[in-house]
Amino acid sequence: GRTWTPLARLEAELKDQSVLVRGRAHNVRAVGKNMTFLVLRERGYTVQCVLTVSLELVSRQMVKFASGLSRESIVDVEGVVTVPSSPIKGTTQQVEIQVRKIYCISRSAANLPINIEDASRSEAEFERAEQTGGQLVRVGQDTRLNYRVLDIRTPANLGIFCIQCQVSNKFKEFLLLEDFIEIHTPKLIAGSSEGGSAVFKLDYKGQPACLAQSPQHHKQMAICGDFGRVFEVGPVFRAEDSYTHRHLCEFTGLDVEMEIKEHYSEVMDIVDRLFVAMFDHLNQNCQKELDAIRRQYPFEPLKYLPKTLRLTFQEGVQMLQEAGIEIDLLGDLNTESERKLGQLVLEKYNTEFYMLHRYPLAVRPFYTMPCYDEPAYSNSFDVFIRGEGLPSLYSEEIISGAQRVHVPEFLSARAEACGINVSTISSYIDSFRYGSPPHGGFGVGLERVVMLFCALNNIRKTSLFPRDPQRLTP
Ligand code: 4AD
Repeated sequence: GRTWTPLARLEAELKDQSVLVRGRAHNVRAVGKNMTFLVLRERGYTVQCVLTVSLELVSRQMVKFASGLSRESIVDVEGVVTVPSSPIKGTTQQVEIQVRKIYCISRSAANLPINIEDASRSEAEFERAEQTGGQLVRVGQDTRLNYRVLDIRTPANLGIFCIQCQVSNKFKEFLLLEDFIEIHTPKLIAGSSEGGSAVFKLDYKGQPACLAQSPQHHKQMAICGDFGRVFEVGPVFRAEDSYTHRHLCEFTGLDVEMEIKEHYSEVMDIVDRLFVAMFDHLNQNCQKELDAIRRQYPFEPLKYLPKTLRLTFQEGVQMLQEAGIEIDLLGDLNTESERKLGQLVLEKYNTEFYMLHRYPLAVRPFYTMPCYDEPAYSNSFDVFIRGEGLPSLYSEEIISGAQRVHVPEFLSARAEACGINVSTISSYIDSFRYGSPPHGGFGVGLERVVMLFCALNNIRKTSLFPRDPQRLTP
């Protein structure tokens, strides 16, 4: 095969060399009949290719052909690298290619439903244009999602999905080094794993079944094996009725389950070290991607502590009460009080990432272990991160975890007390009859981590092809 040069590698050191590149026609501009400027784009990098009519080398026909290329077509170019004396505006690469040969590999439709440049602009650019009487076209969220294959060509979107890849990779890398084993649990299951109505029901060859709302039961059952510590990265299905900025019907769950030797804080220790390592990694190694996102959707770096703040639920309630908000000590925090608490924590501890633990038992799933010393509370926790916006004024939940009940008789009683039809989960409950270690774990939503690390305002921005109550395509 021939040698292909990625656009990212086109630098001045290749001056006078002949190169072969492939990219998308990002912009095409004819100057008279003898010259065409073609900007090619590949993975966010752009380079200007110049076609000038010249005897033997470039025909007028070729220049005309180039000028007629529709934007977003896939184009191969062979040519010589030159370095202009003045900086080139509007491209990432500061060299040009003097084109000798050009081929169109795949022609794009002439009428694009989304203009990539419009879709890449920041809100500030639109506002500036409006003030100066200019007209720029905003691309709405629905249009973006309807034509997602075009939308994901913007630099910010490329950045978002590179960050998503880094988050799930770091999650795996960290846990593998801590002796966790990666598992893959079934997504077709007999009974709902989290209870409640948010479950997709289906027919499994004549038997009622549902799509897993989490790997909860099976990751615990893996602990009943000799695995000790497990994790999974996989799809999670929730038949959400609420149409919000943070709920999807299908998302990617990052799940952990592990033996507990003495105290559920061992699970919180893993959360703490894992997420601090993850945030450090993103800040230290992914600035290019974060900048690409920031250029369109400005945000400030997340404030987090080297050791994550832990507050008990009661301490959180006390902070809220001192701020004049009445909270039931055995109830749940509603979204509003969660947000308010985020604000108070930020003011007092200067962090946008913290844990709240020892929740009232009544507001946690049936499988949650009650506190030994105070059974109205539970060995459970939620982790909060800053919300959207600049600067963010509140916090949202991204992780929820707990120690689990590993005593089958008690688990069965807890399920019944929570209104669950125990017969649908008997194989889960029976798993604990043959010796089962105390254990606990947590679940994280990948899309929420990326959304809120970058303070984005909608979870649809961090899902490649989002599924929400109104969207099943593309
Ligand atoms: O809080 P959830 O429902 O907890 C569980 O699924 C437990 N089995 C976890 C455990 O191990 N105890 O979901 C866990 C996380 C949430 O914190 C949130 O980040 C994300 O999953 N999440 C969603 N993300 C997008 N869309 C939705 N509809 C989500 N529901 C939960």
